[in-house]
Amino acid sequence: MKVNSVELVISAVKEQQYPNDPFPEIALAGRSNVGKSSFINRMIQRKSMARTSAKPGKTQTLNFYFINENFYFVDVPGYGYAKVSKKEREKWGTMMETYFSSREELKLTVLIVDLRHKPTEDDFLMYDFLKYYDIPVLIIATKMDKVPKSKRQKQLKVISETLDIEPEDRIVPFSAESGEGKEEAWKAIRSYMNV
Ligand code: GTP
Ligand code: MG
Repeated sequence: MKVNSVELVISAVKEQQYPNDPFPEIALAGRSNVGKSSFINRMIQRKSMARTSAKPGKTQTLNFYFINENFYFVDVPGYGYAKVSKKEREKWGTMMETYFSSREELKLTVLIVDLRHKPTEDDFLMYDFLKYYDIPVLIIATKMDKVPKSKRQKQLKVISETLDIEPEDRIVPFSAESGEGKEEAWKAIRSYMNV
């Protein structure tokens, strides 16, 4: 996939700010610090277009990146960061629920999990939530550069069992660091939409 143009159109906190056009959207989802913004950067080959950080809680708004004047990647704040106040968590919940439950342009959610770890209860709930709203899900198991080849299959199995994934869903191993899995991820995305 050749990415010729990328534009950050808006960092939105409320519905009225979402782009007002018919282009399809691919949203990210996943734990704070799991690598959502890094996934976008690797997919579009722009090193620091989406801001990343070694500290959790970097992305705070819904960031709409317009790609090839054809579709959006929507970067979102992560969940599960313990040092967040109750008020912040509620704000996050409202913002995410509004977007995921009612956005017609949302055609696919890329749920990012860490290949090294068993998915958390929050990951399970997020997957369940997407299934409930009938939103197609592509699961990406990232940071594969940190897992020895001999352990990857086992980790994929742990992820698929813990999330209790539906037969129609698949998991693509990926690394934003090395770029492994990038073409497979594009191929999977293209099976859901014409990008
Ligand atoms: P929030 O915006 O806080 O929710 O985090 P995020 O999910 O967007 O994570 P982000 O992309 O900012 O990455 C978090 C940290 O993980 C950064 O230090 C990245 O460099 C690192 N990281 C992301 N993907 C990979 C990967 O595939 N391999 C390795 N080794 N590190 C990664
Ligand atoms: Mg981020």
